[in-house]
Amino acid sequence: MHWQSFRGGLVTVALAALFALSSDAYPTSARKASSPRLLTLPIRRVERRSNLPAELRHQQDLNRARRVASRAAGLPGSSNDASRPYDFPANSANSFNADSNQSSPQFSSPAVVDGGGYTVSLKLGTPPRNFNIILDSGSSDFWVDSSQCTSFDFDRGSCGNHSFFDPSQSSSLARLNKAFSDGYGSGNVAGEVVNDTLVLAGVTLEDLTFGIAHNISASFARDSRNSGLMGLGGLGLSNLTVPAIPVIMRDRGLVDHAIVSYHLGNTTDIGEITFGGLDSTKFDPTTAVTVNTIDSGFWLITLEGVSVDGTAVAGIKLNSSNPIAVMDTGTTLLVLPTADAKTLHAQIPGTQEDNGQFTLPCNTTAIVSLRFGGRDFEISSKNLIFERVRRGSDRCISGIGTQDGESWTVGDTFLKNVYFSTNFDDNTVTLAKLV
Ligand SMILES: *[C@@H]1O[C@H](CO)[C@@H](O)[C@H](O)[C@H]1NC(C)=O
Ligand SMILES: *[C@@H]1O[C@H](CO)[C@@H](O)[C@H](O)[C@H]1NC(C)=O
Ligand SMILES: *[C@@H]1O[C@H](CO)[C@@H](O)[C@H](O)[C@H]1NC(C)=O
Ligand SMILES: *[C@@H]1O[C@H](CO)[C@@H](O)[C@H](O)[C@H]1NC(C)=O
Ligand SMILES: *[C@@H]1O[C@H](CO)[C@@H](O)[C@H](O)[C@H]1NC(C)=O
Ligand SMILES: *[C@@H]1O[C@H](CO)[C@@H](O)[C@H](O)[C@H]1NC(C)=O
Ligand SMILES: *[C@@H]1O[C@H](CO)[C@@H](O)[C@H](O)[C@H]1NC(C)=O
Ligand SMILES: *[C@@H]1O[C@H](CO)[C@@H](O)[C@H](O)[C@H]1NC(C)=O
Repeated sequence: MHWQSFRGGLVTVALAALFALSSDAYPTSARKASSPRLLTLPIRRVERRSNLPAELRHQQDLNRARRVASRAAGLPGSSNDASRPYDFPANSANSFNADSNQSSPQFSSPAVVDGGGYTVSLKLGTPPRNFNIILDSGSSDFWVDSSQCTSFDFDRGSCGNHSFFDPSQSSSLARLNKAFSDGYGSGNVAGEVVNDTLVLAGVTLEDLTFGIAHNISASFARDSRNSGLMGLGGLGLSNLTVPAIPVIMRDRGLVDHAIVSYHLGNTTDIGEITFGGLDSTKFDPTTAVTVNTIDSGFWLITLEGVSVDGTAVAGIKLNSSNPIAVMDTGTTLLVLPTADAKTLHAQIPGTQEDNGQFTLPCNTTAIVSLRFGGRDFEISSKNLIFERVRRGSDRCISGIGTQDGESWTVGDTFLKNVYFSTNFDDNTVTLAKLV
């Protein structure tokens, strides 16, 4: 994922205005009298300023995809990504059971991990405080950095420059005396479980159960643009065993359907997330397809074909009885089995392979399409590119990477180009072309 200078001033003002409007008890962003009720709010792409070479960042983006793929395939994650439980301080006032065996920490992620994602602004606690939180369709827990945060592996334990949630400063907070931990391709978090009030898209959810992270990996600590993560996958992936926010919103009567939809924005860093349904102003309804997922927690669907410039690519491994595509907003790239990535790149003019990494001419005009639900969805040639191999080069690293196994991790390289909606009630995914 590459750092695109975020157009700070204007955007911040626009977002501030929107959030100011939406912080009342009634969502101003809800569609007027129409049904179903929709709660919509802006999201923005954030990427960390980083001096790391493009190749290394590409590699780090792949780590996330590979972790997702191995979990989707029911395999254990690589030991590199092994999560470990939160180590409760010996003198902690909370004398509850953390089932951690602290004698053998396995954590060995690279100290420098890049990352980014789409964030939303929300409020937690009483009085409410603002936090920017990453939206992740490929995991299912919601957590925020705590003010007691210590990093596993960053800058002598510093958790970086964030907004931190201070449990002692919220009058509505209840501690549940329970530990949590989560592992991601880019790092791990651990901490404790609390209940508190969330204000999101203008609606208030009291007694929401979420994690406050007392320990985070460098990948999260370095990222000063967000303070936590909201998992929007199914219950099967939740270590907190708490349903995703869209389900809770529906259960509490705030929206009619347990649906969350994403318009990530293919031309700007500003997009939109909608709870409760699909925002029909953002896509062409005649192009919408709805496909079933299997109930694994991931949004896992069947890939039906791949083409380049309208010509089907022969030799890609497809299996109609085996959904292999994990739709994951938290992954930057489109990551495929190595053999398929070779087969596909062979059809893209000007591709070169170097040590398993593919490069393309930066001015490529190739259009790669993925087929889901009987329809081809295009990746614009601009989105096919990750970034320049180095400044001034006319070669670019491909937005398509490789992994072992049979899964495809379908990240932002693809999802930016479409309207993407996930339905927790029906276990379906809807894709449509943008307008
Ligand atoms: C903790 O780890 C030690 C050393 O590996 C092992 O002997 C012990 O059984 C473990 N304890 C628990 C509770 O897993
Ligand atoms: C986890 O955080 C706690 C509290 O901030 C701290 O005492 C502990 O050393 C941290 N553990 C690691 C492995 O960083
Ligand atoms: C911390 O982040 C804020 C907001 O992004 C920024 O204005 C400030 O300069 C940062 N401070 C440091 C020490 O990096
Ligand atoms: C869930 O928690 C357990 C125990 O803390 C941990 O071993 C596991 O890695 C966690 N799962 C994820 C997905 O992080
Ligand atoms: C925490 O919230 C859950 C779900 O809203 C609720 O069932 C539970 O009673 C709450 N626990 C405490 C201690 O507030
Ligand atoms: C297709 O997937 C099913 C289910 O995983 C598997 O049993 C079958 O062997 C696969 N077929 C091929 C040709 O790979
Ligand atoms: C792409 O760039 C190459 C080298 O910079 C140039 O030779 C070629 O004409 C360009 N192609 C297009 C379609 O612009
Ligand atoms: C953005 O999406 C629209 C609608 O699909 C498309 O026409 C346009 O070419 C896309 N732009 C880029 C830069 O991908």
